[in-house]
Amino acid sequence: MSQRNPTQPLSNNAHLLRWVEKMAALTQPAAIHWVDGSDEEYAALCQQLVAGGTFTKLNEKLWPGCFHARSDPGDVARVEDRTFICSLSKDGAGPTNNWVNPFEMRKKLRDLFTNCMAGRTMYVLPFSMGPVGSPMSQIGVQLTDSPYVVVNTRIMARIGLPVIREIDKGEKRVVPCMHSVGVPLAPGAKDVSWPCNKEKYIVHFPETREIWSYGSGYGGNALLGKKCFALRIASNLARDEGWMAEHMLILGVEDPQGRKTYVAAAFPSACGKTNFAMLIPPAHFQKQGWKVWTVGDDIAWLKPDATGRLRAINPEAGFFGVAPGTSLKTNPNAMASLAKNTIFTNVALTPDGGVWWEGMTDTPPAECIDWQGKKWTPVIGKETGAKAAHPNSRFTAPASQCPTIDPAWEDPEGVPIHAIVFGGRRATTMPLIYQAFNWSSGVYVGATMGSEMTAAAAGTVGKVRRDPMAMLPFCGYNMGDYFRHWINMQRQLTETPRVFHVNWFRKDADGKFMWPGFSENMRVLKWIVDRVRAGGRAKETPIGWVPRYKDIEWEGLDFPEAKFEELQQFDRAAWRAEVLGHEELFIDLHAHLPKELIYERELLICRL
Ligand code: GTP
Ligand code: SPV
Ligand code: MN
Repeated sequence: MSQRNPTQPLSNNAHLLRWVEKMAALTQPAAIHWVDGSDEEYAALCQQLVAGGTFTKLNEKLWPGCFHARSDPGDVARVEDRTFICSLSKDGAGPTNNWVNPFEMRKKLRDLFTNCMAGRTMYVLPFSMGPVGSPMSQIGVQLTDSPYVVVNTRIMARIGLPVIREIDKGEKRVVPCMHSVGVPLAPGAKDVSWPCNKEKYIVHFPETREIWSYGSGYGGNALLGKKCFALRIASNLARDEGWMAEHMLILGVEDPQGRKTYVAAAFPSACGKTNFAMLIPPAHFQKQGWKVWTVGDDIAWLKPDATGRLRAINPEAGFFGVAPGTSLKTNPNAMASLAKNTIFTNVALTPDGGVWWEGMTDTPPAECIDWQGKKWTPVIGKETGAKAAHPNSRFTAPASQCPTIDPAWEDPEGVPIHAIVFGGRRATTMPLIYQAFNWSSGVYVGATMGSEMTAAAAGTVGKVRRDPMAMLPFCGYNMGDYFRHWINMQRQLTETPRVFHVNWFRKDADGKFMWPGFSENMRVLKWIVDRVRAGGRAKETPIGWVPRYKDIEWEGLDFPEAKFEELQQFDRAAWRAEVLGHEELFIDLHAHLPKELIYERELLICRL
């Protein structure tokens, strides 16, 4: 048990104290708890969540320090249509964001938040995105009535006393983040295991750098340091201050010479970032001395250093990863990361007090409790189509537990970035790999990226949509201005990262993935490193540079040349349709579209 009285403010920052008081007056919580981030506090909160029915403690022998949570069935993913960028002008948010006049939205929020924490504890949760004290880090304080959010944030970010000390120095701006599940409790009323409200609002005020989130307890909607701060608000900070906040993993490739090449890759939600970041090279590569190191799996902040070299930090401290499909075969590093001290949300519970999800093992358990709390067996699954785990079920695991975590992952200066990779989930058209001709054509490639929608957001799964730089749901301002910022960034750099596009998800006529993916993606990664380090061979095509069969290392994989040609095939008719898709996005953005991208499109059409 904690000795400390948690109602006692931990900070002496007058602004912070006044804001907490004001927000408590608005939301009327029964108690206030200042989060210190200690082990004792974490244990006590988890215990409280178990007692309240939100958490189930897993079998300590099989899953030490792990808990299971089941959300409300209507609160399982990000809600993009309830996400708002309330800039002063509608044009500031641009056509790809939902916008409401900030004056109106504030009125609405005032109504929603009035008394909304009644009967609950309001946690004051200080957090740092990025290592505490790093010049690239940013600080926020989240007020939340969800202890689930507090314990998850303790894994995903640096929290508590060290952050309070930063705040009390008074040197860094603090981003205020308001969060409520939107279920006040009447005196004596019994709580539900996953309180949330049908009405959801995920609101950002970019000019005043504020976040207000109402009605949801799910990851991206509720862990406000993540998508809301580290992408939507940070993209605004980055544009104003000359850096970049991106939906990217960061990995380091160590080659047989011992050189490290760092790569940042932007893939949309549930399109393979975590897996790529934790890649284990095939045996033949390992023997030669290739190794992949993990810096981050979801978000990268990139900034030119004093010498004009682009450097990146991972602002997070944990992985909020997609569970389904994660296995010892596909991603042993993720399995090791989540083996202890992990929170599982919406996966299935097994009778031995463990967890299971589709794809974890070849043979499903004979029986388990599915993500909705119902009995599930393989037969029931087959007959009803019910999944044991929700397709967007997640694990929250400490990054420090990843066996391949890069020794420099918490370097306050970040790691140098040599290559940027874009990639979507595309059944057709897009080859396995190509390289853009230069920075501006690379920005075009990222800007026009398309991907099939996944279960990570509420919506139509499988539909191809334009998802520029994998930032469609996360860019906190006008997408056209964001493209301009990308074009401009290169001018600050003495060395321009090379830009690539990959697609692990091309399908054959039978609807099967043509590429084995996962660890075999090392073959593509090696070509990228070869190209970056100069000397790597390639062939010019209308869309960019591509490897010939002989430019890829095939040792240890039976992948005939004809199959590779099919995977890389450039289909003129499909590309014609693709460019028309680019045009649709460009029409929406036309008033803010950089002319470089218009010229790039013209050049592409000429080459086609
Ligand atoms: P977010 O956390 O939502 O941002 O997702 P992410 O981009 O980190 O995606 P993740 O690595 O979790 O992968 C999502 C799904 O794609 C999982 O079910 C993976 O098994 C699958 N996947 C990842 N890499 C590959 C690959 O190379 N080939 C195939 N076929 N599937 C993959
Ligand atoms: C994503 O959806 O891109 C995620 C999970 O990484 S969430 O935190 O919910 O945004
Ligand atoms: Mn993501």
